Amino acid sequence: MSAPSWEKKPILFLLLATATILVGTIVTMVLPFAWVNSEEERIAGITPYAPLELEGRDVYIREGCNNCHTQTVRPLVAEVVRYGDYSRSGEFVYDRPHLWGSRRTGPDLARIGGKYPDAWHFQHMAEPQSIVPRSNMPAYAFLSAQGVDPSGIRRKMEVLGFPFTEEQLDALAGKTEMDALVAYMQKLGRDLPRGEGSTPVAPTELTNPFAGDAAAVAEGALLYTEHCASCHGADQQGGIGPELTDGWDDGDLFSLIYAGVPEGGMPGFSSLGQERVWKIVNYLQSGGR
Ligand code: HEC
Ligand code: HEC
Repeated sequence: MSAPSWEKKPILFLLLATATILVGTIVTMVLPFAWVNSEEERIAGITPYAPLELEGRDVYIREGCNNCHTQTVRPLVAEVVRYGDYSRSGEFVYDRPHLWGSRRTGPDLARIGGKYPDAWHFQHMAEPQSIVPRSNMPAYAFLSAQGVDPSGIRRKMEVLGFPFTEEQLDALAGKTEMDALVAYMQKLGRDLPRGEGSTPVAPTELTNPFAGDAAAVAEGALLYTEHCASCHGADQQGGIGPELTDGWDDGDLFSLIYAGVPEGGMPGFSSLGQERVWKIVNYLQSGGR
């Protein structure tokens, strides 16, 4: 059996092989690169990092946070429900290098900005188990003792060509690496216009399905301890979030917990599902506080 004739012609073979690889390169690298940089893929409102945020990003890389956390939400229903709108290529134009990651020991952080108040992050970073008892995230309390270096940050901003003002640099005096990391957390996903589906809409049919159900109250108490106590205190006395008081209408309370108060630092709990949220409502309304 003789080989096809072109295999015996080294120059022709070389040219064909090069052409094949070139086509592959163009399709998988050059075109996506051109798309990312095209006007349509640019997302209005995405801004470069401010000096403190940029420093926080470097602390994030140095501490290896990306070994446990991804920063990209895939376009899968389960991910969008849990983390928010899926990631677009245009979001990462100022990320050099990007920190998408490939392994999730902890949750995705692409949409963490604004999910919690600063106070939550300071406490969680210093001692994650004080908020999520079974967390295996290490404590980073030592970052509060390490100051940032304004002149180094200035150089980084200049090298990256990010805009900054002298006031921003002056404000770095006395800041710690912890401040920087929290500022960076609050920046992630913040610039993205909130698309449809990113704010959960509370259902309109609001009848308490568990009214007078003692078992639901008991389950609600456990859910409260797991999801709410870190901010509202074990006895609803308040802490990072306000004290929880009586006098709520069932439906109003349900809607508030389900959708959250995004601009006030209260996360929405639609991901728990309506039944669990109703159980928490019944617990809070049971006067078991
Ligand atoms: C060993 C793996 C691990 C490392 C390293 C790690 N984390 Fe985590 N992280 C977790 C786990 C697990 C959770 C979920 C439980 C919790 O909230 O503590 C988490 C939760 C979080 C959350 C809350 C996410 C949410 O939506 O509730 C933030 C913010 C966070 N980590 C930031 C960081 C930062 C910043 C670093 C680096 C300084 C870091 N993590 C390092 C495992 C890790
Ligand atoms: C990350 C911290 C945090 C967590 C976790 C949290 N909350 Fe909140 N919550 C807040 C903050 C902050 C506010 C104040 C929001 C505002 O109105 O500006 C708030 C407000 C509220 C209010 C309105 C209080 C009032 O008097 O206006 C209720 C009710 C409430 N939360 C219930 C819950 C329940 C139930 C859970 C658990 C499913 C929960 N929260 C989890 C931070 C949190």
